[in-house]
Amino acid sequence: MTTNIKPLLSVEHLEISFQDAGNFQPIVHDVSFQIYPGEIVALTGPSGCGKSLTAHSIVGLLESGCKVTNGQIYYKDKNIIDYDLKNWQTLRRDEIALLIQDSLNGLNPILTVKKQMAETLKQKKKWPKKDMNIYLHSLLNQVGFTDSDYILSSYPFELSGGMRQRILLAMMLSLSPKIFIADEPTTALDIINREKVLTLLKELRQKFEISVLLISHDNESINKFADRVIQMDQGGILI
Ligand SMILES: Nc1ncnc2c1ncn2[C@@H]1O[C@H](COP(=O)(O)OP(=O)(O)OP(=O)(O)O)[C@@H](O)[C@H]1O
Ligand SMILES: [Mg+2]
Repeated sequence: MTTNIKPLLSVEHLEISFQDAGNFQPIVHDVSFQIYPGEIVALTGPSGCGKSLTAHSIVGLLESGCKVTNGQIYYKDKNIIDYDLKNWQTLRRDEIALLIQDSLNGLNPILTVKKQMAETLKQKKKWPKKDMNIYLHSLLNQVGFTDSDYILSSYPFELSGGMRQRILLAMMLSLSPKIFIADEPTTALDIINREKVLTLLKELRQKFEISVLLISHDNESINKFADRVIQMDQGGILI
């Protein structure tokens, strides 16, 4: 990417700390990177180096006890670090979608897939029932399901990790974000579905100019699908 194009997202000297007995202990030290429009960028690095925490901080979903203690995050030139709850919700609904690493936590256990997918769709606009049904089926087909009737009537516990991951992916896609952060989206998937999901991400980038931050350990996927790789370690960004 040429430098005269403005980044969509710019993370600058990000430090994230964990509050321990009143003291803040930095966990993520000094992370800086940019994402440009339409790029697929891979973020990789050893387990525990802070990739998920970094992703969560970008959408205002840091776990309790963790806090951004230094640095800035700019989205479209706006510093989003001090956003309030409402601003974060709007950002997550309209701009940056995060597919979390642990798909079981991303779905409500007491709602059917249909009910929770419908709730996500309704965040954006009102849907006539028939249109919504057609769209729900097409979203599930896009992420590789052929038996969408069965999937829609299921509860999360009835489905495998990989299936839940693809449902979450479909829900995130329905929001048509500008940036899609996928935290290990393929770890729970077999090789066929891994290819399907990554190919889908690539297609969406082409169709809708979505930028993708792909957090992954899977070097094969990274090499095949990412335009650029950001290497992270305990100290921050290496490359
Ligand atoms: N809520 C929390 N409280 C305290 N420490 C935490 C919390 N969440 C994560 N950590 C710690 O922060 C560090 C970074 O965690 P993170 O989940 O971001 O790593 P990661 O790079 O995503 O790892 P993986 O590749 O295994 O997913 C780890 O050492 C982890 O133990
Ligand atoms: Mg992680």
